[in-house]
Amino acid sequence: MNNVEEAVPPPSDRNTPDPPVVHEYDGIIELDQRLPRWWVYTLFGAIAFAAGYWVYFHSFDRGELASREYGRIKAKEIAEEAERIKQAGTVTPEMLVMLTKDRGTVEQGQELFSQNCVTCHSEGGKGNIGPNLTDDYWLHGGEPMNVYGTIRDGFLSKQMPAWGKQLGEDRVRAVAAYVLTLKGTNAAGGKAPQGEKH
Ligand code: HEC
Repeated sequence: MNNVEEAVPPPSDRNTPDPPVVHEYDGIIELDQRLPRWWVYTLFGAIAFAAGYWVYFHSFDRGELASREYGRIKAKEIAEEAERIKQAGTVTPEMLVMLTKDRGTVEQGQELFSQNCVTCHSEGGKGNIGPNLTDDYWLHGGEPMNVYGTIRDGFLSKQMPAWGKQLGEDRVRAVAAYVLTLKGTNAAGGKAPQGEKH
């Protein structure tokens, strides 16, 4: 209590104290102190750094932004995981969903699709002899495991070949992942829906 009172300059000095008083309330005063040098240098240093950072990363697009680096590392992890999964034991729905997230796998699937499937399902799965794979209607179910099973085992009596033996397990998984990415994209000029809405 006493200390606070002592800190208040006597009334005679109030008009020209050094440093000057900027606020006073209930005997509590705020003085206009000089900012410490280290504080000022830190502030201006931070501003200069921010300007340099902006120009380097955003204006000239040099260097790798944290978000992009994260994306790159994440994509690499997914790719490694996808490689492992394609060879791994029993297929699961989670595996197939995971594969749809890996660009490399989906591209591989797309490649396989244009080599083996477009004759009947048309470019991009729009449908021709075989049904449209880009709508929400499925003859044999639109769940990942349904799509995978249809591709692997086929429906020979209905002219859909079985691809399991011909392509091998890892490529059936890749092409299934690609087909799953088509689902619901409703390609323009696609064949009329067949089967049940899923
Ligand atoms: C010789 C023609 C032909 C080829 C080649 C073919 N399909 Fe099919 N596919 C069909 C037919 C016909 C059906 C519909 C079967 C039915 O009516 O039950 C079908 C059905 C499907 C279905 C199920 C669609 C649904 O509505 O449930 C999927 C998925 C599919 N094919 C994927 C593929 C993939 C992937 C390939 C290439 C690896 C492929 N097909 C190659 C003719 C073909």
